[in-house]
Amino acid sequence: MMTLKVNGGDHRVEADPDTPLLYVLRDDLGLNAAKFGCGLGQCGACTVIVDGKAVLSCVTPLVLLEGKQVTTLEGLGTVAAPAPIQRAFMEEQAAQCGYCIAGMMMRAQALLLRNPKPTDAQIRAELESNLCRCGTHMRILRAVHRAARLIDTADAASDGSQR
Ligand code: FES
Ligand code: FES
Repeated sequence: MMTLKVNGGDHRVEADPDTPLLYVLRDDLGLNAAKFGCGLGQCGACTVIVDGKAVLSCVTPLVLLEGKQVTTLEGLGTVAAPAPIQRAFMEEQAAQCGYCIAGMMMRAQALLLRNPKPTDAQIRAELESNLCRCGTHMRILRAVHRAARLIDTADAASDGSQR
């Protein structure tokens, strides 16, 4: 039994300490955004954010997560109030089948957290480990740039409102 911190809440989890995080998110907590693709740390479909960094949840056992903050796509925004990264992916129509998209968004979000204005090359390098079978890479690239602009505009607006 351990307490797992997910999307700002505490969850008591009964699973073995070596259970991959992805199984607990999907099977126990009903958080289905992160996908099971390869289960081997090779496709990125299961990417979530742990303490600000992109992590492959299919190969991350619970034991490594004690006291850490896990964020899944469900923790970023809602259908009614999407986060900038979610809005940007929708506006650029970056999903085709959609299977890779949650992982893509989480890795892109982690990049934007540490680098709010990434270059094309930096986005490509960061997302290289996340595979997309549908080939929507150019739209995904545009979506990450759009998300960076949306965040920048929102920051500028909130700075202005504080004056
Ligand atoms: S499902 Fe985790 S990397 Fe493929
Ligand atoms: S949109 Fe289908 S795998 Fe990426």
